[in-house]
Amino acid sequence: MKKIEEYVRSIPDFPEEGIIFRDVTSILQDADGLHLAIDELQRTLEGLDFDVVIGPESRGFIFGVPIAYNLHKAFVPIRKKGKLPCETVELEYDLEYGSAVIEMHKDAVRPGQKVVIIDDLIATGGTIGAIIKLVEQLGGEVVKISFLMELAGLKGREKLKGYNMESVICYE
Ligand code: PRP
Ligand code: HPA
Repeated sequence: MKKIEEYVRSIPDFPEEGIIFRDVTSILQDADGLHLAIDELQRTLEGLDFDVVIGPESRGFIFGVPIAYNLHKAFVPIRKKGKLPCETVELEYDLEYGSAVIEMHKDAVRPGQKVVIIDDLIATGGTIGAIIKLVEQLGGEVVKISFLMELAGLKGREKLKGYNMESVICYE
């Protein structure tokens, strides 16, 4: 059986010179790759007690929803600004290239709920750092943060000190 690493396509100088882009679409476009990725990510939640899966737009949706469905949990989408119709909390944050504003519905997480955050990849940790702040602002507790891929050189992990974080594969 192939390993996850073998499904990841790496593209130099995308979207900017100097960045090696780890492409998740090459995993998804292979049925075995997709199965393996969901299964391996879901395995990081084994034995964990939680209420809600949160996934950031857009690649966090791809992995967050099937895992929430499999484990019969709620799914809460984090969206880029301007997409959610009801009252939101929002935060601006920096990415490896550029910045963005994310939002979530104010009623999406209730005080005391245990939250798991799922995404395809951690680079600088800016996205996840912002999501943690929003969840905590609403009174939720982040009990686990799981990624398929970690770009260790960008030191995102350092932003998540004190949180239960796991990545399936890691690039230096
Ligand atoms: C990518 C990726 C993560 C985030 C990681 O999403 O899917 O969510 O960047 O970077 P960070 O650790 O530096 O915050 P992006 O914002 O590019 O959106 P997309 O999923 O819609 O492509
Ligand atoms: N690959 C995919 N998404 C990313 C990357 C990357 O290398 N860096 C920041 N977001």
